[in-house]
Amino acid sequence: MRISVFGLGPVGLVTAVSFCKKGYSVVGIDTDSYRVELIRSGDAPFFEPSLETGLREALDAGLLKTTSDSSVNTESDMSYITVGTPSSPDGSIDLTYIRGVASTIGKTLLSRNGYHLVLVKSTVTPGTARNVIKPILEKEAHKLAGTDFGLCSNPEFLREGRAMYDAEFPDRIIIGGESQSDLDKLEAFYNEVYGANTPTIIKTTYENAELIKYANNSFLAMKVSYINMIANLCQNIKGGDVEHVAKGIGLDRRIGSLFLRAGLGWGGSCFPKDLNAISAYGNNIGVKTALINAAITVNENQPLKAVELVERHIGDLKGKKIALLGLAFKPDTDDLREAVSIPIIATLLEKGAQVVGYDPAAIPNAKILLRDKIQFATSPVDCIRDADCCVIVTEWDEFKKISPAVFLETMRRPNVVDGRRIYDPSAFRQAGIKFSAIGLGET
Ligand code: UGA
Repeated sequence: MRISVFGLGPVGLVTAVSFCKKGYSVVGIDTDSYRVELIRSGDAPFFEPSLETGLREALDAGLLKTTSDSSVNTESDMSYITVGTPSSPDGSIDLTYIRGVASTIGKTLLSRNGYHLVLVKSTVTPGTARNVIKPILEKEAHKLAGTDFGLCSNPEFLREGRAMYDAEFPDRIIIGGESQSDLDKLEAFYNEVYGANTPTIIKTTYENAELIKYANNSFLAMKVSYINMIANLCQNIKGGDVEHVAKGIGLDRRIGSLFLRAGLGWGGSCFPKDLNAISAYGNNIGVKTALINAAITVNENQPLKAVELVERHIGDLKGKKIALLGLAFKPDTDDLREAVSIPIIATLLEKGAQVVGYDPAAIPNAKILLRDKIQFATSPVDCIRDADCCVIVTEWDEFKKISPAVFLETMRRPNVVDGRRIYDPSAFRQAGIKFSAIGLGET
């Protein structure tokens, strides 16, 4: 199988490189010629562990070709659609890129011989493959889906920061379509790709496959919002500690221990966009998605818990220096999209605080976004120097190693708010630090 990947963002590039790692020839197409040039020279346009190494190996082996000429006939057997589906103002997804790429692929189908499979990896609401993508492909190609070419929905479940691993070891593969032979062809392909490690493959309709992606992300986000709600209860209970509660409920196998880390809320390019999109989709078809809406509301309020705790420590924030350790929406990424650091910074500034931030990877992006609104530190110690209070915003490993003594020696006043539960409260308190944490009640 020769593969084309349309859209070289985080999903597309990781998909392309991981197929190359398995020995497949891939052509990556992206309309952004600057991005294509970067990739061609072996530089990943975003931070993703082990992606760049894989990219260089793929280029060296001659397995990955890239082009910004989307009309090129890539001589491939299958085309993945991996373009973005950004949010419209009402939360629903904007299908501009999807429509564009469907039209491009449709035109290339005109001149293709042999049966070509088109696979939708982009996150799209139920009905998009059948009602939007299929008609465009058929119109441009003058051919019929299921007869002259194949079309399947094939959502991705890659986590940022673990995307290369997830691409290599998926938990399951979801394939949606209306032609049994398309579903079988794609199943056979994935059996070839993953061999003995092939996970369970679920073959279903386009719509179920599309909904599985949203139901999956919504459930995970809901689980985090749920534990954050419990954390807020614990916070106000003498002796309460969400860590103990999460462990207690996580051992129930029906609940499971993953995604029960309480904190300042979820962010990133997926959960916020996807929950808003499925909620807007529900509204459009007259179904209220109450639990999803509640998860969104809990999450909107959660970052402000950090500011509340800072105020509990030091009172009026005017003129106070607040150090934020971590700016990215989660560790191992430089991504600031919907990061909780953004509303935290906005609120601190509104209250007259002076903010200094440090992040191991996200500072270049933060400088573009925040300009001179905050100061940027060159290390964690530089960040907390002379600060009145420090907030742990992202749980990077390097922050976990900072000892209470370092905070004591470096800060103007030793106040620490652990927004991600990375420190042992008793060690910090015994050292003489005024310490509070999300989901930790008074002792
Ligand atoms: C998420 C899903 O986990 C992927 O399966 C999916 O493919 C991806 O969205 C997508 O739709 O493309 P990602 O956005 O990279 O992946 O991030 P996660 O690791 O899922 O974390 C999401 C947010 O939840 C982060 O802000 C993280 O800090 C927060 N989180 C996660 C918690 O606050 N507590 C937890 O216990 C777990």
